[in-house]
Amino acid sequence: MSGLLVVVGTGIKAVGHMTLDARAWIGSADEVHYVTTDPITEGLIRSLNPRAASLARFYAVGRARHDTYEAMTQTMLAGVRAGRTVCAAFYGHPGVFVYPSHDAIRRARAEGLRAIMEPGVSAEDCLFADLGLDPAVVGCAQYEATDLLVYGRRPDPSAALIVWQIGAVGDLSWNPGRTNADNVAVLVEALARTYGLDHVVVVYEAASLPTCAPRIQHVRLADLPAVPLSTASTLFVPPRERRAPDPAMIARLALDGRRFGLGEAP
Ligand SMILES: C[S@@+](CC[C@H](N)C(=O)[O-])C[C@H]1O[C@@H](n2cnc3c(N)ncnc32)[C@H](O)[C@@H]1O
Repeated sequence: MSGLLVVVGTGIKAVGHMTLDARAWIGSADEVHYVTTDPITEGLIRSLNPRAASLARFYAVGRARHDTYEAMTQTMLAGVRAGRTVCAAFYGHPGVFVYPSHDAIRRARAEGLRAIMEPGVSAEDCLFADLGLDPAVVGCAQYEATDLLVYGRRPDPSAALIVWQIGAVGDLSWNPGRTNADNVAVLVEALARTYGLDHVVVVYEAASLPTCAPRIQHVRLADLPAVPLSTASTLFVPPRERRAPDPAMIARLALDGRRFGLGEAP
């Protein structure tokens, strides 16, 4: 019997965001490994499958996140190599800013083992709902905070921007609750080149418990280094300007220019 790895998401809000697919896989797997951020979701996983074990035991303050992820990946793969059905559950969407889930699937497939991922509700999905953002309207780019700095990403000031993991900017180890304000200042400096220091951004934290409200804190970019951040903080940067439509392209596509605020139909 060949093994199977199924990676599922538990969503952001406890209980309600966990899909029926995720529940079914957790309940029926031979092994379940999980990373959650709240005790209610952890309790639900353990009630669905009493054999479930937390991967959070691999986190240690100051330990390189890369080492923690390698330990998680090896734990997921061991059971699959032994022919078992292994379910790995990660909070949010299991493929959104989750290195070991993709890595385990890649390596399982490279070894000829079966591996699939089921989608879940991510923090981005919650942000779209809570902040009333439809990415269809102005577009939306997203970067990981350290990646944005290291690769010198230049955001488009006419599109929305989501910056993930601002609470750990510039830190490749695991240090929850210890955001480096100097690194946040570097992030502010980089974003200010596009938006200016007076641009108002949002520190966003989706509610993880059903009765709680999300954190939606408006702040000037200049003031961001003084704002307390957590492992759940995501930065939303609204566009600074509107992009003008391209009349030549509108004509080429034979579109009605009035739909784009231009004068006459072609
Ligand atoms: C390791 S990633 C996990 C993302 C998760 N897989 C998802 O689908 O949302 C952690 C980052 O996700 C974002 N995040 C996690 N929980 C959040 C929440 N409740 N509200 C807003 N952003 C959150 C933050 O940017 C955080 O640094």
